[in-house]
Amino acid sequence: MAINIRCANTKDLLNIQHCNLQCLPENYQMKYYLYHALSWPQLSYVAEDEKHRIVGYVLAKMEEDCEDNPHGHITSLAVKRSHRRLGIAQKLMNQASRAMVECFGAKYVSLHVRRSNRAALNLYTSSLHFEVSEVEPKYYADGEDAYAMKRDLTNFQQGCSANEINDVNFQLSNRKCCEHST
Ligand SMILES: CC(C)(COP(=O)(O)OP(=O)(O)OC[C@H]1O[C@@H](n2cnc3c(N)ncnc32)[C@H](O)[C@@H]1OP(=O)(O)O)[C@@H](O)C(=O)NCCC(=O)NCCS
Repeated sequence: MAINIRCANTKDLLNIQHCNLQCLPENYQMKYYLYHALSWPQLSYVAEDEKHRIVGYVLAKMEEDCEDNPHGHITSLAVKRSHRRLGIAQKLMNQASRAMVECFGAKYVSLHVRRSNRAALNLYTSSLHFEVSEVEPKYYADGEDAYAMKRDLTNFQQGCSANEINDVNFQLSNRKCCEHST
């Protein structure tokens, strides 16, 4: 199965939203997706199958309140059920993190995750080296607590092994997206 991971663009947003609606209870209006795509076009990625159908995405941004300590934030991540446990989420997250470092000098990346989300927690802690920074009680609309998590990106280039980024089953394209933004 060939999966292509590339920078997301505005034409992808409806399909990203569709994937989000299928996979997560946290949904967003189209203007919020557009805000990400227009403000940080380098940071969000999609995974697509051979027929160019989007099977996963990561929606990411930079936090705007901290010029002396730049850091990124993962707004949303999902992979369709049919394509899980293939390493797609791990690759999407690493691509977004790499772009945060290369394009904006990010020192770390943050996210929120439901306390009950075992799959995502395992992904973040076991595969991606995130650590829990705090518990945010009743963070979600239904009252569930969130773990606020952070991943240090200061050694990201060295810490990311070649086979994490370049698996034979994946083609990584649009790595030049940083250049397009300037
Ligand atoms: C969480 C999610 C994004 C993982 O996507 P994925 O592409 O299947 O994840 P990967 O294949 O990259 O998994 C990498 C590692 O994460 C962990 N992991 C992933 N899914 C897991 C699961 N269901 N149970 C336990 N560990 C899991 C494993 O350590 C896995 O490595 P392994 O397959 O070698 O054991 C996916 O399950 C999903 O879309 N869930 C619904 C949306 C969601 O919860 N998003 C996150 C919101 S914070």
